[in-house]
Amino acid sequence: MLSGFRIGALDIRPGLVLAPMAGVTESPFRQLMRECNPDMLGLVVSEFISIEGLTRSDLRSHAMLRHVAAERPLAIQIFGADIDRMAEAATLVQAAGADVVDINCGCPVPKVVRRGGGAELMRAPAHLERLLRAVRRELSVPLTLKIRTGWDAESINCVEIARLAEDAGVAMVTVHGRTRQQAYQGLADWQQIGLVKQAVSIPVVGSGDVASAGSARERMMRSGVDGLAIGRGALADPWIFSRVARALAGGRVGDGVSGAAPSSRREVLERYAELLAAQHPERTVAARLRMFATSLLRGFAGAAALRQRIAVTRGSGELLGVLRGAPLAAVHADLAA
Ligand SMILES: Cc1cc2nc3c(=O)[nH]c(=O)nc-3n(C[C@H](O)[C@H](O)[C@H](O)COP(=O)(O)O)c2cc1C
Repeated sequence: MLSGFRIGALDIRPGLVLAPMAGVTESPFRQLMRECNPDMLGLVVSEFISIEGLTRSDLRSHAMLRHVAAERPLAIQIFGADIDRMAEAATLVQAAGADVVDINCGCPVPKVVRRGGGAELMRAPAHLERLLRAVRRELSVPLTLKIRTGWDAESINCVEIARLAEDAGVAMVTVHGRTRQQAYQGLADWQQIGLVKQAVSIPVVGSGDVASAGSARERMMRSGVDGLAIGRGALADPWIFSRVARALAGGRVGDGVSGAAPSSRREVLERYAELLAAQHPERTVAARLRMFATSLLRGFAGAAALRQRIAVTRGSGELLGVLRGAPLAAVHADLAA
């Protein structure tokens, strides 16, 4: 049911993707997800990176290209609107070693859409088509696209955009089943995602509200997509890719995670701290760690009190100290599937 798919010459197996999340899916988090789900995660995607930053030698944007071999296959996502800068940024991303270049057509943030990027590109199909063809010409690695269902409920055009993308040489399209107006409100529309799947012959990945093996199975059946992208679900359950892969391969929903290290919430956070510290100053390590701990430490007795204690910690050492002092049963509690 979830055998996988090809993006150009790349074999994505299983068809499960770590969805791009700004401020989250940078190299340490991508490595962590690979470690928690050995052989169970087909593709990881970077947070979006500005083409303006990349083509103007902005150090922060270039630092976002950093990755390690263990993350691969890796897609790096870029956003912006200008055709020449998009093509130049795509070649920089390819030169940095990305296996796939992904273009963002889904960001709803005013600062991005006002400048013609993100979801605004879906309102300018002729411009988008020129842009995709120009980028395609420059690349030898596959080009993919992430879209929403449309701008708002009155202008749903994901099928049209996916067809246009396929014609322009795009190798895979990911559809987040919400409009730009919805941002992250309401439920993702998997019927629209299914319509895109029927309309094109390139692989289609669905995105939106896959938070458990059960919800993955239901959305897969409803839409017939080739793959599923999981974002927020991975922040709540870092082993979610293994659970979903097993469930969709016919295993029992909620089967444990075999052979995966790290194997408890505490180990996950300790490992994340290590991975973060290898690339970031302490201030960033502490902020990222606190953010992940807040979403991870839920759903067991004493979780709320533990989160409160963690919220007031002043550094990563103190945060890990609180975790080490917490009852073992809590931080080792298996997550519900
Ligand atoms: C904090 C956060 C940051 C996100 N950043 C990006 C991004 O940089 N690029 C992108 O294409 N989508 C981004 N998304 C959208 C996700 O990739 C995904 O499509 C959406 O969250 C729905 O999937 P989910 O329910 O599995 O989270 C972001 C979502 C969240 C919650």
